[in-house]
Amino acid sequence: MNKKQSIYLDYAASTPIDPDILNQMNKIVLDHFYNPSEIYQEAVLSRKVLEDSRLRVSQTLEVKSSEIIFVAGGTEANNLAISGIMENFKDSNLIVSSIEHASILKPAEQYDYKIVPVNAQGLVEIDKLAKLIDQNTVLISILLVNNEIGVIQDLKSITNLIKKIVANRRSQGNSLPLYFHTDGCQALNYLRLRPTRLGVDLMSLNGSKIYGPKQSGALFVKSGTKITPIILGGGQEFNLRSGTENLANIYGFSVACQKAQFILKDEVKRITQIRDYLIQELSLNPKIKINGSLRHRVANNINFRIEGIDNEWLILKLDSEGIMVSSGSACNASKQELSHVLKAIKLSDDQIRSSIRVTLGRRTTMEEIKILLKYINKLI
Ligand SMILES: Cc1ncc(COP(=O)(O)O)c(C=O)c1O
Repeated sequence: MNKKQSIYLDYAASTPIDPDILNQMNKIVLDHFYNPSEIYQEAVLSRKVLEDSRLRVSQTLEVKSSEIIFVAGGTEANNLAISGIMENFKDSNLIVSSIEHASILKPAEQYDYKIVPVNAQGLVEIDKLAKLIDQNTVLISILLVNNEIGVIQDLKSITNLIKKIVANRRSQGNSLPLYFHTDGCQALNYLRLRPTRLGVDLMSLNGSKIYGPKQSGALFVKSGTKITPIILGGGQEFNLRSGTENLANIYGFSVACQKAQFILKDEVKRITQIRDYLIQELSLNPKIKINGSLRHRVANNINFRIEGIDNEWLILKLDSEGIMVSSGSACNASKQELSHVLKAIKLSDDQIRSSIRVTLGRRTTMEEIKILLKYINKLI
């Protein structure tokens, strides 16, 4: 029987779990079902798995172990960052960018919030951010790598701006903190992440994007940050995330995090070559345009539009050939809403409806990309 080809090119939506990690996780599920809060020996061993996992993540990111809070995925990390800070500073406001993931925008809407625009390349307009910050701003949240267009933000410039504003505030006797959060969910595979060097106070991480288990992840919270829990109960995770720990997921996330950063250099090199080949070949067609900055772009993302082509039609046609690509955010795809990210970079509705996102990953080969190109050319 002829096996249908299967070419997966939607790694920004989900990554397949690393088989080695899954094997190790299975062992943890069976051997460490004990509640890490109990005091008998087996439970103490389970607690050791938990704390070793925390250490693994903290050493990878070069932060303190007590600054890592394990949560169930990127959405929860983002919700904890936004609501956890804003519930503490209810009379203050926050600023988010116009291209944040819904798991930032939705919690932000519950508070006094402002949106900083991006330019046509997808980069935050830092002069506009400076104007939006007022005496009551307590939190700024800007995602490091955008999930739709792969644009990498210049966090260091934002950190420098924040430092100046805080110094100015102090000189005027205003003691309100100005925290900086970044959603790093799409960044761990391709950028060396050290929150301290980036100058952020909070950073969200997501296991499901780094070949780890779904519903796993962490929020880095710098010591001294005034944050309040959003899930209340037994006080696990330094009182910031109650509930009996999902040890296998936590362990799986920690190993995935370490591995992603360990193989980063080689993967970036390999994936960039494939991505650049795809961009080069697509650019030969004058009807095809790349969405978002080419220069400030993560290694695995190509988001492009094809004039006169309906993206849904193309996605389904490619799917019938066993090739899986996306129109952008998975959340928008199922709701058939136009992407707020593509709107923010000022694409017209027609341009948005003709846009496709291809995201590469560990299993992607040059051969697969040549097949993709063959079908794209055939279909248009
Ligand atoms: C940038 C970004 N943040 C947050 C999330 C939310 O992650 P999850 O749906 O795994 O909770 C995603 C997932 O697509 C993402 O790409």
